[in-house]
Amino acid sequence: MSAPNPIETRRLLLQTSCDSDKTQRERNRLGQFATPTELATDVLQHAYVQLPTDLPVRFLDPAIGTGSFYSALLRVFPSARIAKAVGYEIDDHYGRPARTLWQGHRLDLKLEDFTTARSPNDGEKFNLIICNPPYVRHHHIGISEKNRLQAAVMDACGVKMAGLTGLYCYFLGLAHTWLADDGIAGWLIPSEFMDVNYGEPVKQYLLNQVELLRIHRFNPNDLQFGDALVSSSVVWFRKHRATTGHEVEFSYGGTLAKPSQSRFVPAVALQAEAKWSRFPISDVRMTATGPTLGDFFKIQRGIATGNNKFFIKSRADIATANLPPELFKPILPGPRHVLRDIIEAEADGTPKLDRQLFILDCRLPEMEIQRRYPSLWEYLQAGKPDVSGRYLCRYRSPWYAQENRPAAPFVCTYMGRGNASHGRPFRFILNLSQATVANVYLMLYPKPPLACALADNRELARKIWGFLNSIETKTLLGEGRVYGGGLYKMEPRELANVPAGAIAAMLPTE
Ligand SMILES: C[S@@+](CC[C@H](N)C(=O)[O-])C[C@H]1O[C@@H](n2cnc3c(N)ncnc32)[C@H](O)[C@@H]1O
Repeated sequence: MSAPNPIETRRLLLQTSCDSDKTQRERNRLGQFATPTELATDVLQHAYVQLPTDLPVRFLDPAIGTGSFYSALLRVFPSARIAKAVGYEIDDHYGRPARTLWQGHRLDLKLEDFTTARSPNDGEKFNLIICNPPYVRHHHIGISEKNRLQAAVMDACGVKMAGLTGLYCYFLGLAHTWLADDGIAGWLIPSEFMDVNYGEPVKQYLLNQVELLRIHRFNPNDLQFGDALVSSSVVWFRKHRATTGHEVEFSYGGTLAKPSQSRFVPAVALQAEAKWSRFPISDVRMTATGPTLGDFFKIQRGIATGNNKFFIKSRADIATANLPPELFKPILPGPRHVLRDIIEAEADGTPKLDRQLFILDCRLPEMEIQRRYPSLWEYLQAGKPDVSGRYLCRYRSPWYAQENRPAAPFVCTYMGRGNASHGRPFRFILNLSQATVANVYLMLYPKPPLACALADNRELARKIWGFLNSIETKTLLGEGRVYGGGLYKMEPRELANVPAGAIAAMLPTE
């Protein structure tokens, strides 16, 4: 790593001072997390090799902050090649001192909201757009603002963004009319769009309105932004329609110039693939797959209580508060308190664990509870002001009733780190007890043919559990999602997609 040049050193000082004047919350509201110098250089170097060497560069950064990309532009491109440079910044707090910093340079730094700015006429468009747009989540965007942004993006590129879209996707869509034909764009954005429903219109834009060149996903264990927990990607495209047979490069880890892995994926395969983050680690999904876990199990998340402390108690808590034990059923503690992958049971079905917990399981009306279980009624009354109005409790009737989740014979921890000490982000647990689980687990309920076979054959449960734990991490990760900090997460639907031909082979043929 070489030392930053004098202007970059001054910019970094300015960035630190501007950041320190703001709280984390204020910075979250406008997505104010700067691109580190090295990464900005890497991005501009990649842009350099994609543009024809004699082409004068017209550069735009729609969310410029203090100008990390502009600074990198100056380091990478000869100044004679930079024909124009424009940046937008909505926040005077960063924009004004940045203007002073860049005085004497040919940067036109506009203190304006990019999403309301008028795009230029044809001859004035930009052939290089580089942007780390604000990562503002949809729930921080008001309804009327969302409607305005959706209409503006539709106008700009003919794509209808979904309601749950974050601000960064609107930036990407809006910038379409600022990019010159054959111009290149590089967007540093959260990788999430590759897998979630709201990302679908963004993917359609990348496949149908422009030529998607490359998506490089950084290794989330190697966070690019120390202070914002996101897993980020750089998405590169050129403004012209892709030709048939076009292939997109997916790379992962390392740097843009030296990724740890890379693979070319046909654009047609991307049209059919809901989960782009499987590339480059996995190959294109085979369509003629055999049975999957979803064929054998109904997979559901465990109980979301709305307030674990209030609804989940130890035996001692229940006795101390004189609560009726018959209205509590066993529940497994969180995965870190469950050290073994087989849960044996006491004679009454309670799990044999040091930490035994119980969840309130009562749908009786309050009046009846008052009559039959006065101490429970008092407990509920004491918690009511705080707990009954909480998000999940508010929509339940009665507010203390829990979802119906009987014990499942197999449960799975579906959130974990790829670098966990046992080397596996997900664990399958054979639950021989009558304990249900909270929503930190997924529950696998056998469907009828498998349920019958399990009832007839006591050994089968262990074999199936063995198979579940033998599924390669890579296969499970191909279904799950990666978050910042190397956190992997699998939804019930994703687990249901995992191939499970081995289970079919364990069942009686008739
Ligand atoms: C993720 S930061 C990136 C800053 C800089 N380009 C960098 O990479 O270090 C996003 C910047 O966009 C600015 N911003 C947020 N909303 C904006 C808007 N509607 N128009 C222009 N800038 C905006 C924020 O104030 C913040 O400085």
